Amino acid sequence: MKTKILVTGGTGYIGSHTAVSLIESGYEVVLIDNLSNSSKETVVGIQEITGTKPKLEVVDLTYKKQCADVFAKHNDAKGLIHFAALKAVGESVKRPLQYYYNNLSSLMNTLECTVDNQINNFIFSSSATVYGKPDNVPISEDFEMKRPFSPYGNSKKIAEEIMEDFIVSNDSLSIISLRYFNPIGAHESGIIGELPTGTPNNLMPYITQVAAGVREKLLVFGNDYPTRDGTPIRDYIHVVDLAEAHLKALKRLLDRENEKTMEVFNLGSGKGYTVLEIIHAFEKVSGKQLNYEVTARREGDVPELISLPDLANIKLQWKAKRDLSEMVKSAWEWEKKIRTKVNGE
Ligand code: NAD
Ligand code: WQD
Repeated sequence: MKTKILVTGGTGYIGSHTAVSLIESGYEVVLIDNLSNSSKETVVGIQEITGTKPKLEVVDLTYKKQCADVFAKHNDAKGLIHFAALKAVGESVKRPLQYYYNNLSSLMNTLECTVDNQINNFIFSSSATVYGKPDNVPISEDFEMKRPFSPYGNSKKIAEEIMEDFIVSNDSLSIISLRYFNPIGAHESGIIGELPTGTPNNLMPYITQVAAGVREKLLVFGNDYPTRDGTPIRDYIHVVDLAEAHLKALKRLLDRENEKTMEVFNLGSGKGYTVLEIIHAFEKVSGKQLNYEVTARREGDVPELISLPDLANIKLQWKAKRDLSEMVKSAWEWEKKIRTKVNGE
């Protein structure tokens, strides 16, 4: 019998790529999502790639009863990966309570339902945003968490603190919190990828939309940072590498190899690229010149975020394998595919 794993936020960007990796590794996957930022069409994409259609449960995890019912139905699951959250940084500044409510009540309900149903192995999507503005780079997991610059970011810091408290009195539960750096790219098939609603916040989808003619030009937020070309440096990670890290984390929990009841790992490549380097990598891969203009800094941006991924490399036996050109190429292939669909070609 296949080991059943629940994936909340499973029709979303990272959740869908992780679902593919899970299915390809022989797990039975149940996706739980309220479709607030994704579409049930993703299930078809997952089936197209893997040959298996995962079950989708349309549930809003902020509702305790909906959460309890779906967990009771799948109480034979052996683990859960909790991706479900709202993630738009700018929107969270405008609607802080919506972000705190959605991200924290869904986490608390999910934690409680997990324990009530003895599912016991819990993986959480955290973010490098919990490091705030770090004093130096590369960033290791023992750097202190600092107040993130947005309610979204702060919801991730508070989420980690809630889990730390919860685990104290729930010793059957094991948690791994994964702090992602900057996930980009798409599945190599071009069948699933990131689907930003409205204007993208993040650099990569903005670049591909400008190249596809959906937006006029990219605004580069500042070139007066203390970096090699003045633009901020980030540690970009291919979403498929990220998905594979979740499998390693899951295996660690299922095999009882975790050394503490709550462990934290950075997921990054350990390499940093500036905004201009990303633009130039994109121009090289796509053969297109990107229309961009340097403008003022964006509030809350820090000059440099680079992970020290050694802990994940050693303990999870995971390493980011896909390089920048693969990340950028897959993002561009995905964008072209969406545009073909949208334009009905
Ligand atoms: P996404 O928006 O594509 O996926 C999140 C999914 O959660 C969506 O399908 C949405 O419909 C669902 N969801 C939201 N609230 C829900 C609720 N109350 N009940 C049920 N489903 C709900 O985002 P993503 O990029 O795939 O991110 C996945 C996780 O990783 C999130 O927790 C996000 O905060 C975290 N993360 C993302 C990034 C990034 O840059 N993409 C970086 C660090 C951390
Ligand atoms: C990267 C660089 C921008 C857009 C965010 C969240 C973080 C995490 C990942 C979830 C920065 C520059 C961007 C544009 C630009 N998400 N940029 N023009 O800000 O590092 O991280 O996504 O947890 O919490 O904060 O990623 O892709 O927005 O920006 O110049 O139109 O690109 O200034 O230097 P960021 P990003």
